[in-house]
Amino acid sequence: MNMDGITSKNIVQMDEKSIKIGWRAPANIALIKYWGKRANQLPENGSLSITLENSFTTTFLSIRKKDKADGAIGMKYYFHGALNQKFGKKIDQLLSHLQTEMPFLSDYKLIFHSENNFPHSAGIASSASSMAAVALCLVSMEQIVTKMKQSNKDFFRRASAIARLGSGSATRSLYGGIVTWGAIASIEGSSDKYATPFPLHELSRLKQTRDIILIVNSKEKQVSSSLGHAMMVAHPYREGRKNQANSNLNEFIKSISEANYQLIAKIAENEALSLHALLMTSSSGTILLQPNTLQIIEEIKKFRESTGLDLFFTIDAGPNVHLIYFEEQREMVLQLVKDKLMRYCENGLWIDDKIGNGPKLLTPEFVI
Ligand code: PMV
Repeated sequence: MNMDGITSKNIVQMDEKSIKIGWRAPANIALIKYWGKRANQLPENGSLSITLENSFTTTFLSIRKKDKADGAIGMKYYFHGALNQKFGKKIDQLLSHLQTEMPFLSDYKLIFHSENNFPHSAGIASSASSMAAVALCLVSMEQIVTKMKQSNKDFFRRASAIARLGSGSATRSLYGGIVTWGAIASIEGSSDKYATPFPLHELSRLKQTRDIILIVNSKEKQVSSSLGHAMMVAHPYREGRKNQANSNLNEFIKSISEANYQLIAKIAENEALSLHALLMTSSSGTILLQPNTLQIIEEIKKFRESTGLDLFFTIDAGPNVHLIYFEEQREMVLQLVKDKLMRYCENGLWIDDKIGNGPKLLTPEFVI
């Protein structure tokens, strides 16, 4: 995790009134899925994810003190150089929510410039990395304008709690490696309000985790996750899901300490299929899996049976498949992708990623 350098020397003071702050925040993929929420984006169940290395959002926040305070928040959000109304609306909501605890927000004009390094059409949810980057910029801004002193631990915890208000899965994008979110008895200091990095033993194979994202369909999904969470409120399996997720999470954590990779694979696949079963059995009867998703799952299972390798799949709320494996299996897995899996991907598209180190503070280059 890159936690160094949250000091004024990394943040360019452009003149008396203007400051520019830049952060890079990674995407993450959940192995234990967050599905269903309470007020203030508090999760119904604990979750656990792998932070990715190669898929990230870069965001620069430029702030300029207003000549005259007017009590209103003034913000613009640019995505790849163009004003983005859809995401901008979400940031507006976030800023209004934060105004009581960050009263200085209305004293400045805020301009965000954001870019994803992964293709927009890749089917990777960009809200986690985007919201995490925005939250980091806001907490940096708070630190600068209020001159508050804060430990790195408190800084990232605060950014995680703020990212949560924007998008649940963003809560976990504030840390590298394996990350949990939710109050979990076996994890000291864990909370529903922010994520907690999960310490891995030096020799854990999870440190060598890799992820090949097989893009079955790059179009935006028909059902937003907000709607999916909302459908859990009246879901007939609501209570059962909470119990299942929490028990899967505890078993998963135990399997990590026991280095039981077969069980890790079994639980992760159960989580992915349960998420889709919940979608299918909700009042909307949503089916996001596609025929090629099922073909890929079949091929991965066949490959696992014939080789005995302990790799596995997971799927987010969409049709694309994440093939999770370990560094030492790479050669065989790449062959599998080439020989058997690529044919089920849209235009043969797949993304090569791996477990990553978490957010990075950038040297600002953008000038207001
Ligand atoms: O962050 P949201 O509100 O888009 O919810 C995302 C939920 C899943 O991606 C399906 C699972 C997870 O834990 O990331």
